[in-house]
Amino acid sequence: MDRLTALLQITRGALVEVPPPPPVAERLVPPSGPLDAIIAIVGESAGETEVEEGRPFCGKSGQLLRKWIRQAGLKPEACYMDNILSFLPPGKALKNVPKAALSLEITKLTERLSRLTAVRVLVPIGNLALQALLGLEGITKHRGSVYTTTVGGRQVACVPCIHPAAVLRGQAQWERRCFLDWQ
Ligand code: URA
Repeated sequence: MDRLTALLQITRGALVEVPPPPPVAERLVPPSGPLDAIIAIVGESAGETEVEEGRPFCGKSGQLLRKWIRQAGLKPEACYMDNILSFLPPGKALKNVPKAALSLEITKLTERLSRLTAVRVLVPIGNLALQALLGLEGITKHRGSVYTTTVGGRQVACVPCIHPAAVLRGQAQWERRCFLDWQ
């Protein structure tokens, strides 16, 4: 047996106990940020980068969102960040998620949000989050408005924001509005 074969056998032997990581489609992205955050941001679903890194809003959209938050003089890491769907939807499309599965995910999100101890402002990002948290349709119509809703039995302000992915997809004219939504 040559050295390489011997090494490969040792390596295989060492790896045999380590279970392979779950397929990307089954990996869950847990929320990030402190449970006593004042601001809770809720996106639509984890994207590929989020699934890779295991935290919400760390990909391209997330970086843009974090820029707006910083421009408003706030610290992104001080915000609680979560998603309606903690996983990458099949085919990366929200429309592929069955209604029953979506309702279940919204219920789970509501439970997670109810554990926040000091939240004062809830920020749904994008249409799905707007609909799930406020029951409203049309993010461009509702963005920047201040609504009231309840989180864990407590009244909080709710300020919907356009999804940064829309700006990245070419709706550059919305960037200014998104920036203003955070001021
Ligand atoms: N888009 C979202 O809605 N959430 C993320 O975490 C990343 C991108």
